[in-house]
Amino acid sequence: MNTGKFSTIICLLAFFVINTIILSVTIADEQQSGVGYGRGGRMSGGASSAREDEPIKPISINFDYNRAKVELGKKLFFEPRLSKSGWITCNSCHNLATGGADNLPTSIGHKWFLGPINSPTVLNSKFNLAQFWDGRAKDLKEQAGGPIANPLEMGSNHELAVSILQSIPEYVQWFSEIYGLDEMYGDEIITIDQVTDAIAAFEETLVTPNSNFDNWLNGYDNSISEIEKEGYDLFKEKGCIVCHNGVGVGGNSYQKFGIAKPYDKDTHTLGRYNVTKDEKDKYVFKVPLLRNIELTAPYFHDASTWDLAEAVNIMNEYQLGLKLTDSETSKIVAFLRTLTGDQPSVIFPILPPSTSTTAKPNRN
Ligand code: HEC
Ligand code: HEC
Repeated sequence: MNTGKFSTIICLLAFFVINTIILSVTIADEQQSGVGYGRGGRMSGGASSAREDEPIKPISINFDYNRAKVELGKKLFFEPRLSKSGWITCNSCHNLATGGADNLPTSIGHKWFLGPINSPTVLNSKFNLAQFWDGRAKDLKEQAGGPIANPLEMGSNHELAVSILQSIPEYVQWFSEIYGLDEMYGDEIITIDQVTDAIAAFEETLVTPNSNFDNWLNGYDNSISEIEKEGYDLFKEKGCIVCHNGVGVGGNSYQKFGIAKPYDKDTHTLGRYNVTKDEKDKYVFKVPLLRNIELTAPYFHDASTWDLAEAVNIMNEYQLGLKLTDSETSKIVAFLRTLTGDQPSVIFPILPPSTSTTAKPNRN
């Protein structure tokens, strides 16, 4: 064999080996965190300059989190034993296979109870100024304690949920690795505070970057079509942008539902008033995020429509006092569909078995 050919083969081999190493490191990285993004969070192709002056901001990609805590939080998110029935998980109502929501008018909870309000998505919920439609929980950690003890949701209570985790040696070990031993007793005692902290850490990773619209914001001009671009222009011109802006395309203010015309389809749900008891907060709600909106029908706190075009028309009528032509509505809908990003690809966690001291499921 002549030496020229030989060195070409060596070069090719070396190239192949190095690439395999790089690839496996990247994949291992994503697998370790248990959360990766469809297109690997990488973009290719040439971008012109980013559109930094737009009122909507792209979701940035961040892998800087505590992996062990996120992994534990993921297990808890899928842990049915946090519910009294041993059957309901956070994922039951915030299904990560269906946009982080349950696509039901109101959720089904303990003993098949129907909740009073539509479940919002958990995706991108870290961009909310507070949690719940009325903002009654200040952050994800505070929120996560709610459903476990809500009789209409998981039907358990914090003592029971924690005692179940405490009865499973794997959980005791994971919690003490992350949160350390109890200072007073030097024991491995799991607290509800740690449970909600870990769940919140997992939720922080549930973001959806790389939507076509974000790619356009980042300067990739052809990421959205002419029609979608016209839809975005209408979204700004008509005034939707006043309330739906920022990284989440919403989630950063409380607004009255029914500004231009009183919203008459549901007059029972008082919204923010429940928190502040201030008369002017009646029918005021946290503005929902519009990211991945095409995945999370039905719409509004009362699930009054399944149709995104109708939701856009309702907003026009009740919030802006406008009437759109069919073509305008469909352009805005086309724009809204560009807000669907890479869904977190979550590797389903395997949960440790119960022990003889673990409380049994209780359907009552
Ligand atoms: C039985 C269904 C059900 C279960 C189980 C459930 N949720 Fe929810 N979740 C809801 C509903 C309904 C709301 C809205 C309630 C409201 O705003 O008053 C909600 C709201 C939220 C929000 C606020 C989102 C926003 O935009 O304001 C987050 C975050 C959340 N849930 C996370 C969780 C976590 C974490 C768990 C598990 C510990 C969980 N949920 C279990 C139904 C459920
Ligand atoms: C004055 C503030 C405001 C304006 C302007 C506004 N919205 Fe909204 N939007 C809200 C609030 C508040 C809600 C939640 C209403 C509820 O369900 O209680 C909402 C809900 C929505 C929803 C349903 C979200 C979900 O998850 O259920 C969509 C879709 C929507 N808006 C789109 C639009 C569009 C399109 C426009 C412009 C035509 C617009 N909005 C204008 C405040 C506003």
